[in-house]
Amino acid sequence: MGDNTIYRASTTAPVNIAVIKYWGKRDAKLNLPTNSSLSVTLSQDDLRTHTTASCSSTFSGPDTLLLNGSPQDVSGARTQACFKALRGLRAELETANPSLPKLSTYPLRIVSSNNFPTAAGLASSASGFAALVRAIANLYELHSSPTALSQIARQGSGSACRSLFGGYVAWDQGSAADGSDSLAREVAPASHWPEMRALVLVVSAAKKGVSSTTGMQTTVATSALFRARAEDVVPKRMAEMERAIAERDFDAFARLTMRDSNNFHAVCLDTEPPIFYLNDVSRAAIRLVECINAAAGKAVAAYTFDAGPNAVIYFLEQNAGLVAGTFKTFLGHLDGWQTELGNKLAGQAGVAADALEQK
Ligand code: ADP
Ligand code: DP6
Ligand code: CO
Repeated sequence: MGDNTIYRASTTAPVNIAVIKYWGKRDAKLNLPTNSSLSVTLSQDDLRTHTTASCSSTFSGPDTLLLNGSPQDVSGARTQACFKALRGLRAELETANPSLPKLSTYPLRIVSSNNFPTAAGLASSASGFAALVRAIANLYELHSSPTALSQIARQGSGSACRSLFGGYVAWDQGSAADGSDSLAREVAPASHWPEMRALVLVVSAAKKGVSSTTGMQTTVATSALFRARAEDVVPKRMAEMERAIAERDFDAFARLTMRDSNNFHAVCLDTEPPIFYLNDVSRAAIRLVECINAAAGKAVAAYTFDAGPNAVIYFLEQNAGLVAGTFKTFLGHLDGWQTELGNKLAGQAGVAADALEQK
């Protein structure tokens, strides 16, 4: 008798929102960036991807992925690179231990859902590929390190490499041609700055007109400002941001965050044809933060926008009334989340907590 078992594992992964943005690839095939980036991982109690991976010798046909109930094309090079890397690691285990079931040869069925807008500039590709990679790693019982999984997730979507870690996470661009030193690393755990909060405002849940992948490739090909950003602006800001986080200097953290968001959107505008991710409501959110900070005499709130119109506002708990209260008064019609940082999902903790079910 053959093995008719359906093997199944589930996981969740949180969103991360960059304060120094990744924008530009030096190697599109391996998904290697033109600059380092730094992000904050949010609590997965609020914005998260939930993914279940199954496989069985009884499944037939190609691998499939159902996202929010819709079948997705998994034939793209980036999803395939993730599947291939994970199957390769499983095959090594199977070779070392021939009594293991040959899961690496079975078709995969992936079912995923995001509890926030997909492809709208709220980093769904980050939580999405982090969850996809970890769900399959759990299914295959790989016990790979977060760094190893992060390298695989990076090939699915660059920003995903940062969602395998909690707290403050850098993605060092690296210089090796094979990407072996282009790695995510924890700068500080969430517990280092427990007062940090984020307010996520959904200005539009619609799918963006220009995907991050396409947008950044057009920027690299056409923007004159882009080179200055990648070579001069970001390297200095990475060092300053790491210092601001180490010293819990919110004023510096906020000013760097806002300037980097604005620099990134300036580079988008400098792209040919120009890319407009912000809209009038986004700009109203920027003005509101500028007003709050001017009245406070220092930066107590920081806005940042990924490739979309949706705002993320960072602030400290002691200013929650002022910052979240002002947003509620003036932009209270927007849906959103008020969230902490992802304390719980630091690396392997997620793997240990996940269930591997066998039916
Ligand atoms: P975002 O700003 O949301 O990250 P992107 O343009 O970077 O937008 O990427 C969106 C794409 O990421 C989706 O079209 C889909 O291909 C992929 N994606 C999003 N969520 C998931 C998920 N849960 N599982 C797998 N892929 C996902
Ligand atoms: C503006 O990681 O979505 O959110 O690697 O092509 O999938 P791909 O792009 P993606 O780009 C994210 C861009 C950003 C900034 C950031 O998250 O650092
Ligand atoms: Co993305």
